[in-house]
Amino acid sequence: MLELRQPRGRRVVVTQYVYPDALRRLTDAGLEVVARDDDRPASHEELVAMASSADALVCLLTDHVDEEVLRASAELAVVANVAAGFNNIDVAAATRAGVAVTNAPGVLTEATADLTFALLLAAARRIPEGDAAVRAGDLAPWKLEQEPLGIDVHGQTLGLLGFGQIGRAVARRAQGFGMRVLCSTRSRMSAEDERAAGVEHVDVDTLLRESDFLSVHVPLTEQTRAAIDADALRRMKTTAVLVNTARGPVVDEAALADALARGIIAGAGLDVFENEPAVHPGLLALRERVVLLPHLGSATRSTRTAMVDLAVDNVLAAMAGERPPNLVNGNT
Ligand code: GLV
Repeated sequence: MLELRQPRGRRVVVTQYVYPDALRRLTDAGLEVVARDDDRPASHEELVAMASSADALVCLLTDHVDEEVLRASAELAVVANVAAGFNNIDVAAATRAGVAVTNAPGVLTEATADLTFALLLAAARRIPEGDAAVRAGDLAPWKLEQEPLGIDVHGQTLGLLGFGQIGRAVARRAQGFGMRVLCSTRSRMSAEDERAAGVEHVDVDTLLRESDFLSVHVPLTEQTRAAIDADALRRMKTTAVLVNTARGPVVDEAALADALARGIIAGAGLDVFENEPAVHPGLLALRERVVLLPHLGSATRSTRTAMVDLAVDNVLAAMAGERPPNLVNGNT
């Protein structure tokens, strides 16, 4: 039985810059808002200090809300993450302390699926390399053996590791490209749902062996950490492209850099990294068929606005003593 604290005070602490309109919704509801006006994450010490005076904490995915932060105040009732993933928060410790944790799912599904497809296409058709060639004045006359020569996307097999909201949105896009879509998930859907989604459920080994493009859509948990390791990469096609817009640590980055350098797989499109904002030097050194982005999955103005608004909805509900709509305690 989940027992969560009821809020006693009215102070909402916001750990990093968020949109002023969102803050206004909190003050309009009679809450006291203490917002840190900095768009870089605070140190752990600062985070503990901020939490110590908070009844509600609004945080971003770069804030590591661990047990020390969660126990900094006996009044802290809710932590609202402006992200769908919540691996930056120790939810088990929050649950033990009676602190509600909420995320911001749904509103970033389509934007993240768009970016997944953009990365897949960019790596397959080597778009950054073509762009760089034009800018370098290297626009040679059209010829058959033109560099950069890419690989087909249409008609190929897309494997989805994980089939939550974003995986499903990627599958819908793949249908438009005439792709065969495989997915591997912890809990299998009914045959009817699989047919409706236009996917075939397979085991992980089949997914690795048969995918021309393998896209990661699982949350980061202790079970999924390094799910794509050296052994998994060896089971993939040598022509395959790996795409990751989920969480960096699901892929063993050193093993991936090595696999790409040695031709064990052909390419990668990565939006997330194991130790963000650091990127493995072995990946930075690879320029062909490897596309690297700075965690842009949800990075459109309207999506980011909707994510902050959803975090505010959750805080407003929790501070009104209601069950917040996106509670994740007990959901890990
Ligand atoms: C972004 O990466 C998110 O999890 O919302």
